[in-house]
Formats: sequence, C-alpha cells, structure tokens
Amino acid sequence: MGPPECRTINPGGSHRVVITKELPGERWLALLTTAGCRIDICASPEPLPSDHIRALLDGGCVAAIGQLTETWDEQTLTALKDAGGAVYANYAVGYDNVDIAAATRLSLPVGTTPGVLTETTAELAVALTFAAARRIAEGDKFMRDGRYTGWLPALLLGRLLWHGTLGIIGAGRIGMAYARMLVEGHKMDVVYHDPARNKALEEYVADYSRFLQEHGRKPVHCRRADSVEEVLRQADVVSLHAVLTESTRHLIDGPRLALMKDDAILINSSRGPLVDEAALVEHCRSHAQFRAGLDVYEDEPALQPGLADLPNVVIVPHLGSATGWTRKAMATLAAANVVAVLNHWPVWGAADVRSFLTDPAPKAAPSIVNAADLGLPGCPATARPA
Ligand code: DGY
Repeated sequence: MGPPECRTINPGGSHRVVITKELPGERWLALLTTAGCRIDICASPEPLPSDHIRALLDGGCVAAIGQLTETWDEQTLTALKDAGGAVYANYAVGYDNVDIAAATRLSLPVGTTPGVLTETTAELAVALTFAAARRIAEGDKFMRDGRYTGWLPALLLGRLLWHGTLGIIGAGRIGMAYARMLVEGHKMDVVYHDPARNKALEEYVADYSRFLQEHGRKPVHCRRADSVEEVLRQADVVSLHAVLTESTRHLIDGPRLALMKDDAILINSSRGPLVDEAALVEHCRSHAQFRAGLDVYEDEPALQPGLADLPNVVIVPHLGSATGWTRKAMATLAAANVVAVLNHWPVWGAADVRSFLTDPAPKAAPSIVNAADLGLPGCPATARPA
C-alpha cells in the first residue's frame, strides 16, 4: 500500500514534518517553515488507520502532528522514531489516543494543546446543558415537521436551571470554566468530585457568593463531594470533565445512572467511553424526564443503536473545541511544540499560553505531557509573563 496523498508546503525545507490532516490558520505554517521544515499534509479527510500513518512516516521525518481520531500506539510511535522522529504533537488537549509510556520509552516527547480550548469547550457544554434542559432539538424538529399550531400552556416543558445544583465530575480547567459560567449566569450551587481539591473554584464561588449577598441576593455554594455517587444523587445537572483512563472508563454505568434524579441532565463533552452508552440508552428509554447532552461517544463516530431515536438526548459531533479561533490556536501550539523540541528549547510550564499566539512567540514548547519523565528542562519563571 502506498502512502496517502499529501500536499507539500515549503518543499525545499530540510526537516520533513508529517501532518495527518489539514489544519486551519496560517501561523502554524509560518512557525514550521521559519524553522526550516518541509510540511507534508495528508489530504484525506477520513480518520487515518495506523498502517496509513506508518506509510506516511516512511521515507523519513523529524516530527508528526496527528489527530485524536488516530491511534498512536507503540508500533506507530516506533515507526515515527525509526523514521528519524524527535517529537509527536497531538492536535488536542486530550491524549488518550497516545501510548505515553511507549513514547517515553522511545524518548519521544508528546505535545498537546491546552489553554486555548478551555472556555470554548465549556461553552459547548453550557450549550448542551441548555439544549437538554429546554428541549431545543425537540423544539427545532417540531417546527420543521410543521407541527406548530400555536402557543400552548404545556407545550414542550423543560426544566429551570436557576439556583439548581450543578454536579461536576472532574474539576480541572474545563470543568471549572463550565462551573463558573453556570454559577455566574444561573446562580447554581456546585457539588464536584475530583481526586484533588479545587481550591480556586471553591474560593471563586465563595467570593461570588459574598458579592451576591452584598447586593441582597441569595448566596451560592460550592463543595467537594467524597464520591461520584454523592454528586449523582444531589445534582440536577451532572457534567463530565474527567480524563479518560482505564479507571474512568464507564465511570457512568447503569447502577450509577440509577442514582441520579429522574429528571436530571447528564452532559458529556469529555470522552465518550466515560459513559456506558448502552446503559445510557436504556436509562433514557425508561426515564422520559431524564435528559442527556452528548458531544462525544463511546465508539466514535458510531452511535449505540437506539441513541439517535431518543427524543430526550441531544447529540452533536464532537464540537467542544470547534471555533475558528480555538482550532487555529491549537494548530499554532502543535507547531510550536514541534519547533521547540527540534531546537531543544525548554518546556513552558504555565497555564497561560496566549503569548504563543502572537509574535515573537516564546522559545519554548507550550505543553509536553511526558516532559518530567524525559527530564526535559522547564522554562525559568522569569522568562514568562507574570
Ligand atoms: C481535545 O482537544 O481533546 C478535544 O476533544 C478536541 O478538541
């Protein structure tokens, strides 16, 4: 089998970098060409099977920028290394598609793109929350089917979020941004479960609550729950923001769904396998008042049979980071990771990566997930903006 067709930018460049999909924006191309790279971009819009990726790498390359829809396992990472690869950059903040332990054994740094999709993904989770709570997809279909004959007191009643209880499972950056949006906008109380306490979130809600009280308004509260079960029992809306690992696979299964309120809302904009999708279909079938808003699927892009027939489920195609600004910024960070490793620059080590989006970009790698295990140097704090 020959390699999939590629479009080449800067054919005279001395280091070949393989890009497995067209990426938006220009800045990422400028970063790579300025660093003397020849860029081979695979033209196929389909998710690439591993043997196609390996065929692309064959012939030599110093780096690859790949997608979350691809499996970067030991065999493919070894092919990258054997081709002369010095770094793999994932065009995503998540990296469950990459065998990090194998990359580390092969001394391959693995780059990711955090910091530019936090609010973007949180906004999508908010959009799903409202779509589920207020039955937006059902209403849209109702109109298009020509069934609207006039306003009725009980037509498509949804649920009010105002001062309800928000459950967050995984209170990292995206979970926290989502919580803040619903606390500020809809005065929801937060109950979260995360292995680590999120002091910043708790303090933020406490400060906001003081502000509300000073203005004669009802306070809001935030507390960490000891267990996932406690969140599921108490929350009106539960949003999943945990990373996918072997221990979080099917974090939400049949018995746990059964703990949720009959009219609760479950949102997943993280990774599909966090939810046992067959159990979710069963649960939504037998609980007409329960609603789910899904951006990700257990066996993406396939859907569990029956899921798309359920009126109480809103489904969108993995759009969490899908804004033009974010997708361009992700491409910039992926290219910056490649350029930095090729130049032996240190690792940024700060959450704020905005300075990579304008010139002059820092001489650093925005995010290398196995940096510590590889002993890569970090940027001195003095080299970063305060
Ligand atoms: C990610 O980056 O991990 C998202 O799922 C897609 O942007």
